[in-house]
Amino acid sequence: MRGYRCLLLLLLLAQAGAGQQYPEKNDSYEYGGENLTPQQRAGRNTWYFWTGGGEKFWREVAKLTHGVTDLLQYVDSRRRPERFKLLGVLNDPDCTQATQPDEYGLWMDVCKPVAIPSIPSESSGIVGLRKFKNPKFDRFTWSVDKYMADPASVEPPYLIGMTCGFCHIGFDPLSPPKDIENPRWYNMAPAIGNQYFHEGTLFSLKLNSKDFRWQVANTQPRGTSDTSRFATDNIFNPNAINSVVHLAHRPSHSEVMNDGTTSQVHYILKDGADSIGTAGASLRVYVNIGMCADYWLTLHDPIYGVKKPQQPFRIDLARKDCEDWRATEARMVDAEAFLLTVNPALLKDAPGGDKYLTKDADVLRRGALAFADRCATCHSSKQPPANVTGDEARRAWFREAVTKPDFLENNFLSDDQRHSVSEIGTNMGRALATNATQGHVWEEFSSRTYKQQPPADEVKGLYNPVKPGRPIDFKPPGGGVGYYRTPTLAGIWATAPFFHNNGLGLYNADPSVDGRMAAFNDAIEKLLWPEKRLGLRSMMITSEDSELPLESGYRLKIRKDTPVKLIANINAPELQLLRNDTFLSRLIGWMIGRGRLYNTLLRRNLAPDFVEDRGHTFATGLSDEDKRALIEYIKTF
Ligand code: HEC
Ligand code: HEC
Repeated sequence: MRGYRCLLLLLLLAQAGAGQQYPEKNDSYEYGGENLTPQQRAGRNTWYFWTGGGEKFWREVAKLTHGVTDLLQYVDSRRRPERFKLLGVLNDPDCTQATQPDEYGLWMDVCKPVAIPSIPSESSGIVGLRKFKNPKFDRFTWSVDKYMADPASVEPPYLIGMTCGFCHIGFDPLSPPKDIENPRWYNMAPAIGNQYFHEGTLFSLKLNSKDFRWQVANTQPRGTSDTSRFATDNIFNPNAINSVVHLAHRPSHSEVMNDGTTSQVHYILKDGADSIGTAGASLRVYVNIGMCADYWLTLHDPIYGVKKPQQPFRIDLARKDCEDWRATEARMVDAEAFLLTVNPALLKDAPGGDKYLTKDADVLRRGALAFADRCATCHSSKQPPANVTGDEARRAWFREAVTKPDFLENNFLSDDQRHSVSEIGTNMGRALATNATQGHVWEEFSSRTYKQQPPADEVKGLYNPVKPGRPIDFKPPGGGVGYYRTPTLAGIWATAPFFHNNGLGLYNADPSVDGRMAAFNDAIEKLLWPEKRLGLRSMMITSEDSELPLESGYRLKIRKDTPVKLIANINAPELQLLRNDTFLSRLIGWMIGRGRLYNTLLRRNLAPDFVEDRGHTFATGLSDEDKRALIEYIKTF
């Protein structure tokens, strides 16, 4: 007995020793969390595994779309060997592919049971999608064939819900997977953002390229999500799942809340629209991925946005009537405590990263000065004191600041301010999103200060795809829209393509360090030398003739090579009018006859900005040598 114990101990010790030598031996979802406090661990579990009850919503979506979007069919195990390639999602390391259908005839990954404290659900086989028993399931009416033909026809045995980790967990640049389709937990980083996610597939199951909705879904850039798809604002503006890092060093701002009080808050989202505090912003996202759907779905016509205008979501009502809201709200303090622990990945710490970094101190100094002159005013959380004003004096302060050895330490590398689209010059689509404005669904989640921002200046000379000789001038409406928050540059070497839309630079689906550097080099060259950009070729255009089915049964025909946003940015109810028997529709019908439809559509476009990789030309005037040095400096972020 004694000897046996001794042997066991030895074995355990040997394992612990091996663990130190090869950290990858810890192969559980808890990898990397060894030093977290119990509170931070609870927060991590929320981030990775908590769905907030959204599985009921996804079931509704499957019914409403008759399977065009159905998480249960999406997790089909037969796709497991190619899930990264086809869907851009991460396979759960604790699961394997099914070798046969389960007792209900469904192909579900086979997963080892992993109990998550206080979170009852199982893995679906995909990281961030969780499986639940469907309380409405009835074995006697169940038919897998009926279900596959139309998920609205019969209740399935499982519901699938989505966690924050589904989009936010991505491959860890410091520990890239050896086999992309079979990653281990230690290949994943909690909040870098899944830069490879192919959201389009989730919204076009069962469709083909002759359907305009397929065209929309499949021109959507990888690594983006259109976060205003449900409760649609009728603007197709998929945006990058950005890394959430360095929260502890992220600046906050004094904003007037909707009740007239003032709070110190972060600006959250690309446009800084979520501005009532981090917990409020996170709860809003839970609603956006399905929480409190019983209430939320009464406020808008999901997906197509045709049947009724959206109404504001009332926080008080949700707190009172929705149990999932209360349960989730109680978890937000822990979740924030966890997110505060997430630091950016540095190239110097990545395997083989060294070979991309210069040791030439003069080059780095030159790059730092270029950064001070051209970039730091927006891309630094260390800012001059209030008494240093004027461009010249501020620049001098930054020139001094960047030479200090600790300038980059704990620097969020963003002022975190909202800058107008006319100042930044990048594609306007995302900045024009209206869901957080007065009277719209997220009105209560944006501050009064946000809603009272002055309208941005007119943007002139936008490319006109209908009449290229007649550029478009567009004046953003007021009410809060028209701004982009400066993003952090911390860890930027690992997250190209750039910009809110992942619109600048090469996408290569390669999470290795070499792959990330290839994407970074392409994006940064295009950033600093705008003449290298794709320009008109960066527009999202249809790959063949397609049709959009309207509610009336009429099928709108759309030619090959049409900019997707020409149709997808039109107020949906107006688009529907096209074939109802109204004066307008007859008028439009007359114009279609004369080939003038596109012109009419263009005038009704809510964000008539088609070129994806334009703008942000702040390096103009720097010499090539300065730009090269600046790149070397940025690689150290
Ligand atoms: C379907 C994909 C998806 C899921 C699921 C998702 N997010 Fe996000 N998240 C995004 C995208 C896209 C952005 C960038 C959106 C933007 O800024 O407009 C983002 C950004 C964020 C940001 C940071 C924005 C900033 O200002 O830096 C936070 C915080 C965040 N999400 C929290 C959450 C929480 C909490 C959940 C779970 C309830 C969640 N997300 C689930 C796609 C997703
Ligand atoms: C006036 C403020 C401002 C200045 C000056 C500025 N930027 Fe930016 N930068 C922004 C904003 C705002 C965005 C977001 C634009 C978007 O996503 O459409 C951005 C985006 C970026 C991105 C993409 C980040 C990502 O996550 O995709 C990089 C890289 C970048 N800037 C680098 C620089 C460099 C290098 C300089 C100096 C040559 C610079 N910026 C100067 C405001 C600024």
